Amino acid sequence: MRPAGLGERLRAVVGPGHVLTDADTTAGYSVDWTGRFRGKAAAVVRPGSTDEVAAVLVACAEAGAAVVAQGGNTGLVGGSVPLAGEVVLSLRRLDRVRAVDPVAGQVTAEAGVTIAALHSAAAGAGWDYGVDLAARDTATVGGSVATNAGGVRVVRHGDTRRQLLGVEAVLADGSVLSHLAGLEKDNTGYDLAGLLCGSEGTLAVVTAARLRLVPRHDQRVVALAAFAAADAAVAAAGTLRRTLPELDAAELMLAAGVDLVCSQLGLPRPFAAGVAAYLLVEAAGATDPTDALAAAVDGLAGVVDVAVATDPARRVALWRYREAHTEAINALGPPHKLDVTLPAGGLSAFLAEVPGAVAAVAPEARAWLFGHAADGNVHVNVTGVAPGDEQVDDAVLRLVAAAGGSISAEHGVGTAKRRWLHLNRSPAELAAMWAVKDALDPAGILNPGCLLPPR
Ligand code: MLT
Ligand code: ZN
Repeated sequence: MRPAGLGERLRAVVGPGHVLTDADTTAGYSVDWTGRFRGKAAAVVRPGSTDEVAAVLVACAEAGAAVVAQGGNTGLVGGSVPLAGEVVLSLRRLDRVRAVDPVAGQVTAEAGVTIAALHSAAAGAGWDYGVDLAARDTATVGGSVATNAGGVRVVRHGDTRRQLLGVEAVLADGSVLSHLAGLEKDNTGYDLAGLLCGSEGTLAVVTAARLRLVPRHDQRVVALAAFAAADAAVAAAGTLRRTLPELDAAELMLAAGVDLVCSQLGLPRPFAAGVAAYLLVEAAGATDPTDALAAAVDGLAGVVDVAVATDPARRVALWRYREAHTEAINALGPPHKLDVTLPAGGLSAFLAEVPGAVAAVAPEARAWLFGHAADGNVHVNVTGVAPGDEQVDDAVLRLVAAAGGSISAEHGVGTAKRRWLHLNRSPAELAAMWAVKDALDPAGILNPGCLLPPR
């Protein structure tokens, strides 16, 4: 490892068994989930405590070694892999739920706790956690704070930042910021937790978070509604936000994506032919929301068929059509993942324009569109394009910006989109972001290739 002596120092901090340098063992930490972003770690360091994270950062800072923090490595924008030979700082061993406060409805969880484990801890105290996503068994608290993860329940509970009451984090110089009291009202200056949330490991390494819990809604019902036209499904998602207070999720899928999932996973087609789009709707409450969901879906325009599931196994089976999109698309080869938000009124037009915009620059490529319709968030996945060919990224992200949307809804900017950050952020905003970065990480060792475009 370069520079000489750093490996020895890191081994002294975390123990020899937790500094990995062998190419076979570091390989899994060096490539992202999609397979599009592949690097080579100088080393993978696995600290077991906040103090060890601090000591690792001091050692790396003194050696001038750049560091990429990594949680479950489920990121989709190349933001947590060592593309320039950085040291990977894996937070997975920090996996303790430190405290659940059933009175306040809050939890303090370390960075390496998975979202699924967080849900279990919340359930054990009679509460629930408001963020959920398909990668729940692997994605971690630290990664979800670092990226301000969204997921399938933003329509009801908001994104990760909305759950965040405080963080414990280590700065590049090894100093530890800790603000975990969880006071609901706390106007004592800058919101450092809010600043670190979504900073993608460029300002500090998050080691724990104080998170708000939400009431449990154990009575659940799922409907899969079929539409003859995608714009009717998009309009329906908007209507349900107004007509169904129990709305927990409203997920858009198109026929091509559902067909792909069915053929890849051997699932039956949910309905006969003639369907252009689907909306997967989940309602949840303390009392049975089935009648409310049925009334709300009855009132929607353009529905051609509906399947309803109340028992858990059947609900999971309906969700499978949506949650398996990511793996089904990946089986075609590493996709370009363009996770974007459109203003509510512009979503349908965007969906109609994307295939043409992609075909114009990459005739062999294929665009797959699905996402969190109620948030205006669509996942444009493009297959059949070489990992380094960014023409489709450019075409789609410019279309988004022209429509007044955001080039990153919930996955972050990472290394994948920093070239286009200027489409959403003014020179003054970028300068302010650089000023923050320079103040907190003056030597620029924290995830230097991520988020901010070169000056
Ligand atoms: C999802 O919602 O399934 C993921 O965020 C999207 C993706 O895999 O592109
Ligand atoms: Zn998503």
